[in-house]
Amino acid sequence: MLISCFQLTVHAQDKKPVPQLGKNSLKQVIDAMTLQEKSKLVVGMGFKMPGVPAPKKGEKPKSVDIGGFKLPPSDPEAYEVPEKVPGAAGRTHAIPRLGIPSITVSDGPAGLRIEPKRPNDTKTYYATAFPVATLLASSWDTSLVKKVGVAFGNEVREYGVDILLAPALNIHRNPLGGRNFEYYSEDPLIAGSMTAAIVKGIQSNGVGTSIKHYAANNQETNRNSVNTIVTERAMRELYLKGFSIAVKASQPWTVMSSYNKVNGTYTSERRDLQTDILKREWGFKGFVMTDWFGGHDAVAQMNAGNDLLMPGNPDQSEAIVAAVKDGKLSMQQLDANVERILKIILKSPTFRGYKFSDKPALKAHAKVSRMAAAQGMVLLRNDSETLPLTIGKRIAVFGNTSYNIIAGGTGSGDVNKAYTVSLVQGLNNAGYKVQETLSKSYTDYIAGAKAKQPKQVNFFTPPPPIPEMDVNSIVVNEADGADAAIITIGRNAGEGADRKLENDYYLSDAEKGLINGVANAFHAKGKKVVVILNIGGVIEVASWRDSVDGILLAWQPGLEAGNAIADVLSGKVNPSGKLATTFPVDYPDVPSAKNFPGKDLPMEPGQTAGPMMGRPSEVVYQEGIYVGYRYYDSFKVKPAYEFGYGLSYTQFKISDVKLSSPDFKGSITVKVSVKNTGFLSGKEVVQLYLSAPAQNIDKPEQELKGFAKTGLLAPGQSQFLVFTLHASDLASFYTDKSEWIADAGEYKVKIGTSSRDIAKTVSFNLANDIVTEKTHASLTPEVPINELQNK
Ligand code: BGC
Repeated sequence: MLISCFQLTVHAQDKKPVPQLGKNSLKQVIDAMTLQEKSKLVVGMGFKMPGVPAPKKGEKPKSVDIGGFKLPPSDPEAYEVPEKVPGAAGRTHAIPRLGIPSITVSDGPAGLRIEPKRPNDTKTYYATAFPVATLLASSWDTSLVKKVGVAFGNEVREYGVDILLAPALNIHRNPLGGRNFEYYSEDPLIAGSMTAAIVKGIQSNGVGTSIKHYAANNQETNRNSVNTIVTERAMRELYLKGFSIAVKASQPWTVMSSYNKVNGTYTSERRDLQTDILKREWGFKGFVMTDWFGGHDAVAQMNAGNDLLMPGNPDQSEAIVAAVKDGKLSMQQLDANVERILKIILKSPTFRGYKFSDKPALKAHAKVSRMAAAQGMVLLRNDSETLPLTIGKRIAVFGNTSYNIIAGGTGSGDVNKAYTVSLVQGLNNAGYKVQETLSKSYTDYIAGAKAKQPKQVNFFTPPPPIPEMDVNSIVVNEADGADAAIITIGRNAGEGADRKLENDYYLSDAEKGLINGVANAFHAKGKKVVVILNIGGVIEVASWRDSVDGILLAWQPGLEAGNAIADVLSGKVNPSGKLATTFPVDYPDVPSAKNFPGKDLPMEPGQTAGPMMGRPSEVVYQEGIYVGYRYYDSFKVKPAYEFGYGLSYTQFKISDVKLSSPDFKGSITVKVSVKNTGFLSGKEVVQLYLSAPAQNIDKPEQELKGFAKTGLLAPGQSQFLVFTLHASDLASFYTDKSEWIADAGEYKVKIGTSSRDIAKTVSFNLANDIVTEKTHASLTPEVPINELQNK
């Protein structure tokens, strides 16, 4: 019905000269669009769900059951119009008569996600798996992250994609968050700065990004319907802050709204979020798209300023047409949404007619991936200089993931890469002698276990991990033959489910047995044991860390994993990563432990729901602004490894910390000298924490307000670093006044190499309060929240 009347309109107007995108003004193009055309432009072309067979010709696509929840049928055009890039996540509708092309969007945060093979085509379309976001953030190096973005964006462009559905920057609210590997940090300054850096790099290729998921999407359980109950202050200071930093510093082409509700309303239907804050307060120039099938009311989404609905289906377009006709949606609002989309289409490679090669520089990008991976690994423990391990040593390599390393997480964060270098391959490549009999036992064991594994059920349910092999009968022999042992502990997760405590956050009994068995046998012979953590999110470490000599947190390091780990183990790269997320002593220490993932609410009669969709539920962010180190430091809870922590093979000394003035006048600078006082070249991350006066409102003990990484300093070499603080860095959000205010009083500037390793504290005074920004009351909770207070 809709399609035929759309065709008639086109036909009637075809006879007159029609304005063309790029040749005529946007206003002329929009004025020439019919209501039906507008309604198609703001709704995507549908989605071929992975694993769902195409409908028969002429048949309407069926609704898809995913995770127990029925998704609406896709747009038939998704199947009928040939895809420009197979495996991409979505496209917009073309309107050929106005010169408007369809643009293509594709995941995801650690590499371009497209189909690697195509029917009747011998070529391959593999993409580089870069290290996951959690690793990149641990580099604390925005110029490195920008370099990754430059390489990444080349693949987006050369494979014909217009907009990458990444980066993702939700806050690590809880270690069990299933998508934490896709996200950067528990701290919004790190999250926002890393996002801005990678966006600049990607977009320097003339392609776009979609920073996601805006906002407060911090869990996977019930992700499509959970109502997040949170104060405006926690939103502004934590969950929106990174987005505001990234938008202002890098103008991503698009923002992706999140699935969840905030204080009773879907984020994609909240005008305060999508229009007032994002576009008006922060000056965002691009367009907002929904997450896939996010929200439920197309008209409310249009009215909120959520410009594009993805992946889109014809019912949404019909609802929009009807709403304009009966006055529920103004033409002015619809035009505003259309205009934002057209402005981005104008910049797109597709519109510009870019002839993509399908041949990105994969070899060069693998080198970038390896280099970045080594820069973001964090050395957590190194007793008696166990590491670096001299090349040529005989190593007994334990743990399934040493052989089957995890390059990155699952779901839309996964990448179809050509290969992954395992740890044993990396060690062999570096010149270590890997114990062969042990390696063979592992490869046989893993092959046998894989053959028995259930197949992947659907996109969201990867096969379960293979339990660790029992090595009791062989470990003594290995301790005799090898010079040292390496044990890899691996974890994987991804969208659709949060992680579990048992056998995930906590080590399994088999893993504990493996660590103990290997440590006892090797220590009995005076030999060292190193654990590699091949994980995407935080696990428990405090109960077992003392039984080993070294721990290297390798995260999920991308396709060059084994080579990058060997680079750090051998000392070819001196580790310089620092934690951008806290490792607590135990899970109950986590401030959101009692409020994660919230509670299920009663279902409506006849309602269907699965683990992530459709089930009414709510989560209260009772910890308020006290997330991560903001909590541990304010409430004096000792973590296992604190935010900002990470060792090096050399030592550094911070000195000459000087403030430009004892009084704050508009801005203030802090100058710091860092010296390499050890015997190996290395890099150090200097961190600036600020303690603000808290007479009027509760404030965290300290907050990260600046960070910088030195260049590679030779032994004895020093470098000066300069940090500038602006009034906005001093401000907290006053909900009752809708103002960001820097309170008068004494501010302590703490310069250190972790949140708990402060080398020097200096103070300055602010004579009078400064209102740094005035806002409007937004996001107001519908119910009172008994927020945690530090009084
Ligand atoms: C994810 C997004 C992703 C989109 C398209 C959704 O399920 O939440 O992060 O970009 O799918 O694949």
